[in-house]
Amino acid sequence: MSAQATTSAETVVTLDVVDGIGVIAMTRPPVNALGEALRSGLIDALTDLNGRDDVQAIVLHGEGRAFSAGADIREFGRPPSGPTLPDVLNLMLDGPKPVIAALHGVAMGGGLELALAAHVRVGVPGLRVALPEVKLGLLPGAGGTQRLPRLTGLAIAQAMILSGREVSAEEALSLGILDRIGSGAAREAGIAAAREVLAGKLSPRRTDDLTVAPDAEAMAAAQARLDAARPQLDAPCKALQALAAATGPITEGLALERRLFLELREGPERQALAHAFFAERGTARIPETDLPAREIASVGVIGGGTMGVGIATAFLLAGYPVRLIETEAARAEAAAAAIGRNLDGAVKRGKMSAEARAAAADALRAGCDMTTLADVDLVVEAVFEEMSVKIELMRRLDAICKPGAILGTNTSYLDVNEIAAATSRPEAVIGLHFFSPAHVMRLLEVVVADATAPDLVSTAFALARQLNKVPVRSRVCDGFIGNRILAHYRKSTEYVVLDGADFAQVDRALEEFGFAMGPFAVSDLAGLDIGMLTRRRKAATRPAEERYSRVADRICEQQWFGRKSGRGFYLHDGTEGRPQNPDALRILAEERAAEGISPRSFTDQEIVDRCMTAMISEAVRVLEEGIALRPADIDAVELFGYGFPRHLGGPMHYADSIGIANLVARVEAYADEDPHYWQVPELMRQMAREGRRFADLNGE
Ligand code: 3HC
Repeated sequence: MSAQATTSAETVVTLDVVDGIGVIAMTRPPVNALGEALRSGLIDALTDLNGRDDVQAIVLHGEGRAFSAGADIREFGRPPSGPTLPDVLNLMLDGPKPVIAALHGVAMGGGLELALAAHVRVGVPGLRVALPEVKLGLLPGAGGTQRLPRLTGLAIAQAMILSGREVSAEEALSLGILDRIGSGAAREAGIAAAREVLAGKLSPRRTDDLTVAPDAEAMAAAQARLDAARPQLDAPCKALQALAAATGPITEGLALERRLFLELREGPERQALAHAFFAERGTARIPETDLPAREIASVGVIGGGTMGVGIATAFLLAGYPVRLIETEAARAEAAAAAIGRNLDGAVKRGKMSAEARAAAADALRAGCDMTTLADVDLVVEAVFEEMSVKIELMRRLDAICKPGAILGTNTSYLDVNEIAAATSRPEAVIGLHFFSPAHVMRLLEVVVADATAPDLVSTAFALARQLNKVPVRSRVCDGFIGNRILAHYRKSTEYVVLDGADFAQVDRALEEFGFAMGPFAVSDLAGLDIGMLTRRRKAATRPAEERYSRVADRICEQQWFGRKSGRGFYLHDGTEGRPQNPDALRILAEERAAEGISPRSFTDQEIVDRCMTAMISEAVRVLEEGIALRPADIDAVELFGYGFPRHLGGPMHYADSIGIANLVARVEAYADEDPHYWQVPELMRQMAREGRRFADLNGE
């Protein structure tokens, strides 16, 4: 074996030659994103190997955990420089030597497109391939829309590109994306395939020489789905347009694809979705990051209601043994049965194998004896949201749990400092605020109380990773980040209703804006009693100047709590559509009359502007009080816990797109009607003065 190694300037590519086979390794951790340096490195490496007489074939693979995760998403906002990805692909595709792409880990986006331009593709088990660009507001911009259909046919390529779905090595082989699945490391599998190519046993081919059969039915069905989608996003529509060109000459298809890609790259949808991508990952940057996490080998969950069941399921899905405590045996049994149904659902959705489900069920112990929690590493209480109940429980846990155990509270509003102070070990108490259904929703607010030990925070973040959650660090305040913003924003929706809109218009306006469900429909689904209890709890501290809508209270007085009782803001009696509850509208009319309000009309846009300005204003207060670490964390909370439309990036990113000075002007204008509710937060005013954006505060 002869070996020779050269290394490019930034060591993003290494080269060696093995028995006449040139081996290019991409070495840009963590995932070989194809940034400028890597693209240049690949150009140099291919040029070098193409010109060498001792090289007959080329293997391209990635070092580390991935072949390549595609284009470097961080580069999109910057002016383009250096060779483009299509430049790299063309050099490979039209070069004199066959290129074998050897894939492992992930080959996504531009990473897969790189492989599609190779002459042979070998994968190893565990590989996942995808063209997920639409999830980032893009379309595959380096040949994916033209070359994938040449390998798989139009219908499969269209389904993969419009969904961004990941495909396993085995499926990729069956779809024609891979030529074979090798064994061992990708590099060795690639070299073995190259030897076969040189021995004439494996035929290399140019993907571009293949043709695509039209598939009018699949394309029409996809178009119909996109036309019906609300909101209608730009990226999937443009991706479909590019795919439609795949049946024609490839040069034309590639030119169209590139033009559409560049349009999307500069657009707001791409910016917002890339922001959401980094917001999700950026929440882990916390002051406690370097502190070693404690080991969590066993978990106790107290409370077998919806939250307790969901939390226990989340831990079981992640492989933790769980002890669930209820007050009576029958309740414990009911909780175990509900958890069993959740696990069945996970199997049905392909999230867990039947064997893993059986193991998870075995790992659950549900009972009434709290002393069985004496040796668990973590307890999460999810009992009734009432301070006296929480305090009483924490005192008992304090007496039972071993030293070093973490006492987590799943309170969604209450003061975690007060809960912690009830124990003899406030440093062991932390808020772990899950969102319902807790085994599905990705957000986890990690609420850090004044006395919480710093390594509890790093432990909670490590735990969140195991649970596949998005943890966001919050300090203590009423409602923490998410529910505090929600409470303020919900008032704005009540005020526009009181002033002249109705429930359906507000819901429709916010759904058109991008929320899956408007606020009144959400209340009906969750139960109106939740809001009622919150309002009662806050009644004593409500400022006299605060405008108060009695509409929801009066609906609740009728025992109408939404879907579960057949009526709320809407009727839930099986009537077609979403009819408003006529009695709720009557109550609304009575309340307007009692307040002397003559209803006026609002456009949908006015409703959205008011409600979003309210949400942003409270979010700014959360930021300036230091409750949230950075604007992007607030975006993560809203995106992963409250259904904020992802293509708008979250309220803070959306605020930047409106402009802070414009927001100040809006609040000042609204303040004429209600100076108590509409106040410009000081940070907002200051940022407007200085011309700064929230993005500047993210430290990106
Ligand atoms: N560009 C830049 N950085 C990237 C990246 C990319 N394409 N993909 C991942 N990263 C970064 C992440 O931000 C993270 O950085 P951090 O450690 O500083 O937070 C780090 O790499 C590791 O990523 P994850 O934490 O997400 O690691 P996982 O192992 O959980 O997931 C992954 C790996 C499945 C590759 C996931 O990161 C992912 O889905 N990446 C995006 C893939 C993608 O969408 N590619 C298409 C890009 S657009 C494109 O290619 C255009 C082309 O058509 C021209």
